[in-house]
Amino acid sequence: MTTQRIEGVAAGANDQGGAPSLTVTDNRTGRSYEIPISDGTIRAVDLRQIRVDDDDFGLMTYDPAFMNTAACRSAITFLDGDRGILRYRGYPIEQLAEHSTFLEVAYLLLHGDLPTRQQLEAWESDIAHHVYVNESTKQFMDGFRYDAHPMGMLEATVGALSTFYPEAKNIGDEANRYRQIVRLIAKMPTLGAWGFRHMMGRPYVYPDKTLPYAGNFLNMLFSHSVVDFERDPRIERALDVLFILHADHEQNCSTSAVRSVGSAQADPYSAVAAGIAALYGPLHGGANEAVLQMLNRIGSTSDIPAFIEGVKAGKERLMGFGHRVYKNYDPRAQIIKKATQDVFEVTGVNPKLAIAMELEKIALEDDYFISRRLYPNVDFYSGLIYEALGMPLEMFTVLFAIGRTPGWVAQWNEMLNDKEQKIARPRQIYVGAEERDYVPLDKR
Ligand code: ACO
Repeated sequence: MTTQRIEGVAAGANDQGGAPSLTVTDNRTGRSYEIPISDGTIRAVDLRQIRVDDDDFGLMTYDPAFMNTAACRSAITFLDGDRGILRYRGYPIEQLAEHSTFLEVAYLLLHGDLPTRQQLEAWESDIAHHVYVNESTKQFMDGFRYDAHPMGMLEATVGALSTFYPEAKNIGDEANRYRQIVRLIAKMPTLGAWGFRHMMGRPYVYPDKTLPYAGNFLNMLFSHSVVDFERDPRIERALDVLFILHADHEQNCSTSAVRSVGSAQADPYSAVAAGIAALYGPLHGGANEAVLQMLNRIGSTSDIPAFIEGVKAGKERLMGFGHRVYKNYDPRAQIIKKATQDVFEVTGVNPKLAIAMELEKIALEDDYFISRRLYPNVDFYSGLIYEALGMPLEMFTVLFAIGRTPGWVAQWNEMLNDKEQKIARPRQIYVGAEERDYVPLDKR
């Protein structure tokens, strides 16, 4: 059996005072290699020089699910999972959630700095100008089955936007890229709300560019409905804050999907549609829907202990708990928990809140969750707010997608400006059959 031993790990300069490096001895050959360390990483391609002989392809790293591989350099979002820190362009999420608006945060993510008043007004006006969608959008929305999931509709209709804006393929042109970015952020609420209207069997409500971003979205969802819709600034603000909290989260599953598709130089609508597809999954954005289904199933606080026992026995997961990166607490969950109070002041308390809070309390005292460092994530409480706002379960992940769009497009744009990036193409360890001859059908 061959073993490989890493002899030296240097976080600073090496013994000789040179640049930081890692010395690796390949025990198969006895040869040593010095590999540069920068930004706390080694370059995986630097390992390719480690070979047994000339025919050897060279050493690769094996990292299923990218547990320890940085795929890009990014200046957008800083996340420290152990300390529960999340910052957009250096600004703590808590400060942005308290003082900023979603569109201001979108500008920040894209441009790198907070806008001046004049820049913000121009940005808001650009977005407002693009909230409308081509009339034929209504026809293909109508083509979906009456009970189509709005997330599936969003994925398809965002992808379809590329057919309306064929110039979007011209990704090398920065002004053109900007126009598509504005369109995506502006039209996402329109497409999301129309999916809802389709599902509810109600006529589509046109966007109103005079309304604020969240206000326009709520208006398209609920106005001219059987129930009179009255705008409430507290609800609009709570939704805006939820959008801010979801706006970016560095290299998560959907953002990686956007970058991966975008690396093939696909247009941004196709890349963002891929992000929506990834977000749809219950281990990612689909968790907020799964949390509510779980709370509905538990039904009452007295049934929580039996449910927890089932989780600990591995029968199912406590949805809305755990995170690949946050191993302390998810700072977004704390802000959302606070926002629930504001919304419930207007809508009345969602009775499931009691179950969620009791569940959290029991889980946080239980060794199973403590030892695995499982804490509530962003999705644990967001669904309760969405439900209080009158959203059906199927809309929850759509709301997440609307909030995440500025992050997706900022990351896509950053990738295109990064000279080191190429088409994403992981390697594999082949474990299949050796070469064998084709066997005719009658001889098998
Ligand atoms: N409930 C119960 N046990 C859990 C949970 C959970 N929610 N999450 C992780 N665990 C357990 C695993 O069973 C495993 O236990 P083991 O060591 O005994 O096998 C251990 O904790 C580690 O879990 P992994 O699956 O290895 O952790 P990973 O980092 O791969 O997964 C994830 C992270 C997918 C978020 C996971 O915690 C999970 O499935 N949570 C529930 C779904 C959810 O809320 N997703 C939303 C994430 S936030 C977002 O995407 C917006």
